Amino acid sequence: MTTSVTIRRPDDWHLHLRDGAMLQAVASFSGHFGRAIIMPNLVPPVVTGAQAAAYRDRIQAALPGKVTLRPLMTLYLTEATDPADVVAAHAQGIISAVKLYPAGATTNSASGVRDFDKVRPVLDAMAEAGIPLLFHGEVTDPSVDIFDREAVFIDRVLDPIRRATPGLRVVMEHITTSDGVDYVLGNESIGATITTHHLIINRNHILAGGIRPHYYCLPVAKRETHRLALRKAATSGDGRFFLGTDSAPHPDRAKESACGCAGCFTAPNTMSILAQVFEEEGALEQLEAFTSLNGAAFYGIAPNEDRIRLVRRDTPAEYPTHIPAGDETVTVFDPGFPLYWHVEDPA
Ligand code: DOR
Ligand code: ZN
Repeated sequence: MTTSVTIRRPDDWHLHLRDGAMLQAVASFSGHFGRAIIMPNLVPPVVTGAQAAAYRDRIQAALPGKVTLRPLMTLYLTEATDPADVVAAHAQGIISAVKLYPAGATTNSASGVRDFDKVRPVLDAMAEAGIPLLFHGEVTDPSVDIFDREAVFIDRVLDPIRRATPGLRVVMEHITTSDGVDYVLGNESIGATITTHHLIINRNHILAGGIRPHYYCLPVAKRETHRLALRKAATSGDGRFFLGTDSAPHPDRAKESACGCAGCFTAPNTMSILAQVFEEEGALEQLEAFTSLNGAAFYGIAPNEDRIRLVRRDTPAEYPTHIPAGDETVTVFDPGFPLYWHVEDPA
């Protein structure tokens, strides 16, 4: 039985670090990643190149000296986004991508896009400059069932946008369905991130035997067949699929509420969980592709030079169940089983 695997240092292609006290509390938990694509859904959102540069500096200041995580910044697309600002911020190396939230789809998405025609000039400029567009792929139409919102988004929004702006590089963020997997497999020049938690939980975990707010995220976990399709895609080695944890910390007070918010905080234990998933799928040799090679290739940057080692031990790795964040606490994602894979950094 394989008991250790050494891989290039992983990257996280979708991460929420927040700001202020929460940023201070969570930043170091992503410390064994090399680069991370940082989501811009702050309050107020990161909408200009200047704001992205200032946020990058705040993140760097929050990281302990020994942590070398490099934040790769994104802009939050609004109907008022200036194409020239996006192109300039990318040319100056301030941003790596632009995030599209349909207005109302998720946490802090109120300033997102309602009318996709209004952002066409920005998308055209991005296609021209080779700037990736990262989609939160869910429709917000209240008549569409929440479990169908990803599949409907592909037909109603994603596919028409890709046809209208050929050459636009897109990443379907945090896919949760076999529909998402199939759309990626049917298209050559597309990327898709898959989260750690969507490889572990299906909708029963959220709802059966009591409601579990710490498993609630968006897009919401779907039925088991979809989880199995995601596991197959993630462990396949196909270069279009890569890790984006969508680690999204919220104060416990806001999650354990009559109207709890969406997000799972998976940064601390993600690599231990993923090693177990890949082992269960008989695909440990594909772990490095998913966490450390495919995303870098999509973004056109070299993989990290250094390596980490994952070692399977007889005693489980220990992670905190909660972390303090200012006056709040944040619950760490509980996969529901012991984690025998330990991270050794450096390898
Ligand atoms: O579960 C989620 N949490 N999904 C998102 O799209 C946003 C994120 C957050 O910012 O909390
Ligand atoms: Zn997210």
